[in-house]
Amino acid sequence: MKLLNFETESWMTLHENNCLYNLADSCAKALTFKELYDFVDDKVQFQNHLLETTLDYGPIEGSQRLKEGILQLYQRSNIDELAICHGGINGNELVLMTLLDRGDHIISLTPTYQQLYSFPESIGVDVDLIQLQEEKQWIPDIEEFSSLIKENTKMICLNLPNNPTGTVLSDDLLEKLVELCRAYHLYLLVDEAYRGLYHEVSISDIYEKGISTSGLSKILSTAGLRIGWIKTQDTELIRLINERRDYSIISAGPLNDYLACIVLEHYQEILKRNRNILETNKKYLEKWLKDNPYVSCVIPQYGTICFLKYYLPIPSKLLAQRLQDETGVFFVPGACFDCEYHLRFGLANDPKTVEKGLTVFKKWLEKNGTL
Ligand SMILES: Cc1ncc(COP(=O)(O)O)c(C=O)c1O
Repeated sequence: MKLLNFETESWMTLHENNCLYNLADSCAKALTFKELYDFVDDKVQFQNHLLETTLDYGPIEGSQRLKEGILQLYQRSNIDELAICHGGINGNELVLMTLLDRGDHIISLTPTYQQLYSFPESIGVDVDLIQLQEEKQWIPDIEEFSSLIKENTKMICLNLPNNPTGTVLSDDLLEKLVELCRAYHLYLLVDEAYRGLYHEVSISDIYEKGISTSGLSKILSTAGLRIGWIKTQDTELIRLINERRDYSIISAGPLNDYLACIVLEHYQEILKRNRNILETNKKYLEKWLKDNPYVSCVIPQYGTICFLKYYLPIPSKLLAQRLQDETGVFFVPGACFDCEYHLRFGLANDPKTVEKGLTVFKKWLEKNGTL
């Protein structure tokens, strides 16, 4: 089967390195190596560890220390409920490849992270998407899920908080969804790449067939370490995923593993830094929207991204391209998420860049708008 172009990722690859104001990045402002080093208490020991590391494959399934660090982010802390992989994106792929076969059916959302539906489609899986609506704060109804379940439905694939809308489900809705999945023996894969800034619940803590995928990239600002993981109470699934991992990445590498341990041992400080960034930017965005008739937004409570709606009759790829060419301001166009007249905006980018970029964007809107 044909694998469709991954619209968001390819737009990012083409555009992110020649902009002045990156307002699209979904990761909280990345840490420099120096910033990470500053967190370390025993600097001599840290340096010696790096210099003395043997550059072999390292701990194949991830070190015990790394796993213990990750388990702090969950309520359940059984080490055999965790598999290490190469970023959350590899986690999703490993789960989807391990559990789905041609002819199975899954339910996902739109707009959401394209991997969650295009990848299953490419291996012959039948996919139904629930259209999220802005008028409903981008939140789906339980009836929309139940009405789509078929005899061959195997999994529901979500991303919470959702990329690009920031949607999370209320406790009540999540409970109903878990009950529905339980009744039909469905796996519930939740890509939780953006979870954890504010103690949001993990599906792997509350549902025995719930699968959480995540990584260090987004809320922990260290995408460059490429450490991700899969967490589920289904330990047989973890075993199967580890078997499959042998065919794909072998290991995450000893340096990445070690540096990830340092990140996780300082995760509270990093989260504090990122919550500050996020709150500064949200305040600025709220103010910016107040006297801006060209843009509106359902500002989400969780995650690091939101989806701006603009009121100009210009398709989003054209608008994003023109805006970047003329001003250096970079967004991901809504068309990459099959949702026109929107722009994906990273709420945890450097506040100076956000403030300057939004100011430049506003001037451009005033020049090009017709209101
Ligand atoms: C929802 C979602 N999942 C996974 C990923 C990939 O993350 P990682 O860097 O952990 O592979 C992204 C990156 O944008 C994402 O938005």
